[in-house]
Amino acid sequence: MNQPAPDLTVNESLLEQYDGAVPRHVACIMDGNGRWAQGRGLKRLRGHRAGAKSVRCVVESCRYLNVDVLTLYAFSSQNWQRPRGEVSGLMKLFDIYIKKERRRLVKNGIRLRVIGDRSRLSDKLQGAIAALEAESASNDAMLLQVAVSYGGREEILRACRRLATAAAAKELDPDAIDERMFSRHLYTGGLPDPELVIRTSGEYRISNFLLWQIAYSELYFTETLWPDFNEAELLKAFADFSRRQRRFGKTAEQVTS
Ligand code: IPE
Ligand code: IPE
Ligand code: MG
Repeated sequence: MNQPAPDLTVNESLLEQYDGAVPRHVACIMDGNGRWAQGRGLKRLRGHRAGAKSVRCVVESCRYLNVDVLTLYAFSSQNWQRPRGEVSGLMKLFDIYIKKERRRLVKNGIRLRVIGDRSRLSDKLQGAIAALEAESASNDAMLLQVAVSYGGREEILRACRRLATAAAAKELDPDAIDERMFSRHLYTGGLPDPELVIRTSGEYRISNFLLWQIAYSELYFTETLWPDFNEAELLKAFADFSRRQRRFGKTAEQVTS
């Protein structure tokens, strides 16, 4: 997945100095937009709008650094419970994001995939998502997964239901269900698991994000609010990741030998 980066609006002089490890799959819980706005006496939606700038920065920085997969948590199944105006404002922002970033994503070789229960989105938004997924389907410089109307438990239940249906129809032997098969039935479709999960805004929880997939991910928490997250913050997270020893149950000696 190494292609020349055609058109990136990132701080390249900062990124090019980085010589640590780059995770192949990075997942971000983009949190703190509301507090960013409220701290400035602004409406929460202004924070979400500011957060969209960080999205472009992180997408293009990851693209520059040759990350293979970037998964962004944009809206959870539980976020539907927010005030109606905030929900509709966020939906409008997704629509704007897709329109505004379409050209840049395609030009930069980025493939878009939306994960989550998209049946709850408006027909118009579903159409815009499907069109960009189709348009970017052959791009292979980076996969950008955006989790919208997404919940990890919901995703696991959906996979269980699909497998149970196949087993009940005698198309599948229950004994054949293993981790590989199960993960192929998740929205993430058998992709490599995230190596690094970043959560902004000083909250130390997972909030129903990629529950199956993060079994062995490295977790990085920062106090920085998502709209303030930028190239330097991303590199801090990557540098921290570089210092981790991933042992997967083995001893340190086993891993280094
Ligand atoms: C994250 O920011 C974005 C979404 C959940 C959509 P928040 O809106 O949760 O911001 P805070 O946590 O209220 O500051
Ligand atoms: C998690 O953020 C969901 C997203 C970032 C989209 P929340 O702000 O909704 O999480 P909780 O509810 O505080 O755990
Ligand atoms: Mg929050």
